[in-house]
This record gives sequence, structure tokens and C-alpha cells, in this order.
Amino acid sequence: METESNIPPPVTSITQIGRHDGEIVTIQGWLYNKRESGKLIFPIFRDGTGVVQGVAPKNQVSPETFETLKNLTDESSVIVTGKVRSDKRAPGGYELDVINVTVVQRVPEDDPYPISGKEHGIDFLMENRHLWVRSPRQCAIMRVRAEIIRSIRNFFDERGFTLTDPPILTPAACEGTSTLFSVDYFDDEAFLTQSGQLYIEATAMALGKVYSFGPTFRAEKSKTRRHLTEFWMVEPEVAYARLDDIMELAENMISHAVQSAMANRRTDLETIGRDVTKLEHIKPPFPRITYDQAVEILHDGHAKGLVEAKFEYCGDFGSPDETYISSQFDKPVMVHRYPAKVKAFYMEPDPQRPDLALCVDVLAPEGYGEIIGGSQRIGDYNQLVQRIREHALPEAAFKWYLDLRKYGGVPHSGFGMGIERAVAWICGLEHVRETIPFARTLTRIYP
Ligand code: 4AD
Ligand code: MG
Repeated sequence: METESNIPPPVTSITQIGRHDGEIVTIQGWLYNKRESGKLIFPIFRDGTGVVQGVAPKNQVSPETFETLKNLTDESSVIVTGKVRSDKRAPGGYELDVINVTVVQRVPEDDPYPISGKEHGIDFLMENRHLWVRSPRQCAIMRVRAEIIRSIRNFFDERGFTLTDPPILTPAACEGTSTLFSVDYFDDEAFLTQSGQLYIEATAMALGKVYSFGPTFRAEKSKTRRHLTEFWMVEPEVAYARLDDIMELAENMISHAVQSAMANRRTDLETIGRDVTKLEHIKPPFPRITYDQAVEILHDGHAKGLVEAKFEYCGDFGSPDETYISSQFDKPVMVHRYPAKVKAFYMEPDPQRPDLALCVDVLAPEGYGEIIGGSQRIGDYNQLVQRIREHALPEAAFKWYLDLRKYGGVPHSGFGMGIERAVAWICGLEHVRETIPFARTLTRIYP
């Protein structure tokens, strides 16, 4: 007959441990590390939801358990039973009086876990990214990223947008031919998508309000802290929307993502070391300035000796330019109406000044640079044909795209936000390589 004590204790996650004060629980996880002082061992366990310190005094645990813990190596996988005890001094407010430890796989002594508490160089950490992701800070970043993605999907789902997934293998460029990854497609040349935009313009004509959320690729030869070769982009596209409409959509979406991260992932943001006071006021409306006004800001900065090079009108902004422009504001700033010739082929010209495009770049505060690029799309068939020719794009590959201007064309607009740049800003990270579990850059494709 089964007595109460034969029933195995319930498996609990470390975040939920506070609900079991005084009870015996089981934790399935890993040894994070341990401290020892004479006849006392303090093993720290982690299980993906948090860490908890165990306490194992020699005179209170079985000799086998004490030996097992004494010989346990960092990152060995273990199933632990113990009694939960609240302790004000413990990091999570609770400690675990260890009763039993089952080792699932022991990390060999002579080949220990390579990442220790000591400082490692970034190259070493990136080479060991498959293990580095286990560190508390990296776990916190991954949880914030997941929250930002969840909140953005929610934002669009709740506002009547339909998620439509564009293809990843494509016959043509969207954002310029210099950053295309080419693949052999059964002896034809194909490319990894740079943006789902052209395809969601088609689904927007079917469904009205759509978005895509997927991987995009740029063969960027730029080795900066903002560039990845593979990144995730969220792109809404709205039939009958004008530039002003999507600027409003962009500020609402950004603010929603920031506020959700603050509300639901505050502890993680603190683990990362983010100064959250810089995020609290990220609420609409965001400042809007024209490209011309941004150039004035740069010229003014140059005159004051704060911007090194004199900005040449008609160029695209460089990283230091964006940093200076955004330093004038404490919210993301929306810069609209760039010269058409520095922007993509599909942008609608401003009817008041056809040399300008009806486009917007959103620059994040604190020097994080461009996080969003968007525009109103060219509506006129003939004008689009002309642009495709001017940009020396293969006309045949765009026949279907031109059809959208032939069969019930309407004004429409959309934008794309790179998730990694948004996460870097919201988490306050130096480099985008930490915002995605396995970053792909100019110099890295391993692990
Ligand atoms: O400004 P981009 O090139 O715009 C587009 O691709 C449009 N077709 C989007 C649209 O209107 N639907 O890219 C959009 C965003 C940038 O603002 C940036 O956040 C991110 O994508 N991005 C990158 N992120 C990381 N690494 C790179 N190499 C990136 N290139 C662009
Ligand atoms: Mg851009």
C-alpha cells in the first residue's frame, strides 16, 4: 500500500518555489556553481526559470548525498529534492534544504565547463555561444526578446491585422542588389529575402491590414555593432494607409513593446543592467522631423564642434549622424521625407516636392540608430516601371508586383522593424550580437 511518503514530491520550477514554502519539492536542472565552507556545501541550482541556493550540512544529509555534492562539477545536470525554506537574505527569498541529488550527467573533471565566473573575451564567448546562452544575463536577454516579439504580435493581432508569411527564397531584390545572398535554385539563381514587403503588399490587397514576422537576410559587408547578415523583421502593410498613418502605427507599436517589456520583464531588464527610467516615458507622440530639419540639426552640431564631418545634403545618414540627431530627443525620433535618390525604388514621391520620398526612418534614443524604415508605396504603374528601370532591376521578376498597380491599386504604406536593433535598444546592449541566440555576422557562422 502506498503511504503518503512514497509519493514522489512534485516537480517545481524555481520561479514557483515560493508557493511551496515548508514543502518538499523536486527541481530538474543544472548545478550553476557551488560554495563550500568546511562541513557545509551551498550548491546553487538553476532550471531555466531562475536560480536557488541549496544548503547541505554534512550532519544533516546522507553521506552519499554529501559526497555527490562535494564532487559535483559546474553545469552537471541534476534532479534535486529538498525542503523549501524562506530566507530574507537569499536572492529569490528562498533556500532549499537539500535531501537528495540524482546526477543525470556529470561534467567530467578533466574537461570542465568552459565558461567560468571569470571574464572571457567576446570571441571566446561567441565561439561558445551554445553554452554562453545559459548565463543568467543571456537568459534574461532571450526572455526580453521573446516578450518584445509576443507583445508586437499581440499588438497587430488585436488591431485586426492578419499574419501572412512571405517566402524566404525569392527571385529578386527588395532593398538594393548589393546586399543579396544568392542561392542555387535548381540551376537558376535565387536570393534569400531582404524583406517580406513586396509580398505583403500583395496580401494587403487581399486582406487590408497584414503583417509578416520572419527572418530576413542582408549580405552586409559592414562590420558594425548594428549589422547582422540574418535578422528578424516585423513588417506591417496597410491598404489605403498614407505615410502619416503608418508613422502613428509605428509609434504605437514601439511604445506597446517597450511598455510590455517593462511590465512583464522588469526583473530581467534589471539583471541586464538596463536603466529603466530611460524607457518609462517612451509613449506617443514621438517627435517628427523632416530630413531637411535633421540636416539642419547636423549642420548646427558641426558649427558647435559636436559633429565631426560637415554633412553633405542628399546623402543617407551615417551612424554618428543618427546618434547626434537622436541625442536631441529623449524619445525615438521619426525622420521623414528623405531625398528619393538615397532610398529604395518603391517609395512614393512627395507630391509637393517629387525629389523627396514619402518615407520615414525611426531613430532610437541613446545612439541606437535606425530601428524602423518605412514608406508609402508607389501607386502608379508607369512610375513604378520607370523606377525599376532606373534601379536596373530585372523587370520580368517584378511583373507580378506591377500587377498590384494594375488590378485595383490603392495607396498603401508599411514599415519594417529589425527586432535585434529594437532589443539592443530596449535592453541597452552595446552590440546586436547578444540580442539573438545565434548571431550571423560578416565573420561568424559557427556555432
Ligand atoms: O530600412 P530597411 O532596409 O527597410 C526595409 O527592408 C523595408 N522593406 C521595410 C518595409 O517597409 N516593410 O530595414 C528595416 C529595418 C531597419 O530599420 C533595421 O531595424 C533592420 O530592418 N535592419 C537590420 N537589422 C540588423 N542587421 C541588418 N543588416 C539590418 N538591415 C536592416
Ligand atoms: Mg533603412
